[in-house]
Amino acid sequence: MPPLRRCCWAVLLVAWPSLPWCLHVPLDSTRRRLLASFLGLSTPVSVAANARPDATDWAGAFAAKNAANAADGCIRSIAKKYVEMMPDSAPSFLRLAFHDAATKRGDGQGPNGSIRFELERNENLGPSLQRALRAIEEMVNMCHVSWADAIAVSGAAVVEAMGGPAVVVSLGRRDAARPDGEGRLPEGGLTAGALRDYFLQLGLDDEELVALMGAHTVGRWTSLLGVPDECMAKEGLAWWRCTREQGQRLPFTSHPTVFNNEYFKDVLEFERRQQMPRPAKRFKDRVDSEKLPPLYLLPSDLGLLYDEGLHQVVKTFATDQAAFFAAFARVAGPNWADRRSTGPGASQSSKLEILV
Ligand code: HEM
Repeated sequence: MPPLRRCCWAVLLVAWPSLPWCLHVPLDSTRRRLLASFLGLSTPVSVAANARPDATDWAGAFAAKNAANAADGCIRSIAKKYVEMMPDSAPSFLRLAFHDAATKRGDGQGPNGSIRFELERNENLGPSLQRALRAIEEMVNMCHVSWADAIAVSGAAVVEAMGGPAVVVSLGRRDAARPDGEGRLPEGGLTAGALRDYFLQLGLDDEELVALMGAHTVGRWTSLLGVPDECMAKEGLAWWRCTREQGQRLPFTSHPTVFNNEYFKDVLEFERRQQMPRPAKRFKDRVDSEKLPPLYLLPSDLGLLYDEGLHQVVKTFATDQAAFFAAFARVAGPNWADRRSTGPGASQSSKLEILV
């Protein structure tokens, strides 16, 4: 073998792109991408950043798919570590994914990472979403994905890591460069009819909306318990901010770090208690069946009881966890995977092409 060829093989181990030169094969972009994916490069995302898969570019599509799998695995493994190390913080990733996606109204807004400009809105105030967003930044840097992808995939990842169903979320969202429209998130006082109207705007039917509401089987909400008087005396955004920072956090269910169907059982339990005779006023006078643990649900959660159609779905999910999991996985993935957020303010910063 001529010395030049020998030298060439020597550098091959560290510089794989020289392979075609050694073999006198011209290396076009398709071959480079294919080679990269066969070699299982640890940073294929950057390869796919330039790869626009189309029907004729199967090698590009193959490389991009490989890259997406690697990025997905990267986000999920970081999210899983958060669940293991800080289980009480994990539900906030799920809430973040919903709040980023729920601004979708057919105008290009939705799951586009715009939540990072919206933390000062009263629905997003408080330390939990801020903390989750700091972790998302870590994913963006380590996994080379857009903010929107990191938010959507981590929302899905924590569900699975807390014992829920596997939720498939495709990658390829583009980051918005400015906030989405205001007033698009649901409020805690929604009645049954308002709940249906709200979720209809997101294109969800009764079963899908009830399944998505089942997210409240994990996590906590901030009550006004323990809020000092000087905070209560404040007004507007200042009131929201300090009550969210200082109020006592109450769990929706008795196992706020486990994703199961307890939420639906609690909604029905609330109904059962409502129908019971009024308990004695003094706790110590109550009979055992009246000394029940408190239920902490929002009025909008209880709204599910006041509509026959929604009530039926609650009953099904309360007795059949597998049905709840299947419905949740079906609705959550596409809800966060609103492909191509190209509306006003969308930047071209997505690192991955859309994989349909
Ligand atoms: C009518 C619909 C909904 C309303 C009114 C609502 C409202 C709320 C409120 C007020 C909180 C407490 C926030 C706080 O005090 O810090 C909360 C927490 C939460 N929400 Fe919702 N939500 C709704 C639907 C959803 C959906 C569809 C999801 C996800 C798919 C979701 C996921 C969560 C999670 C995981 C938490 C707990 C967050 C934590 O522990 O930090 N919510 N929600």
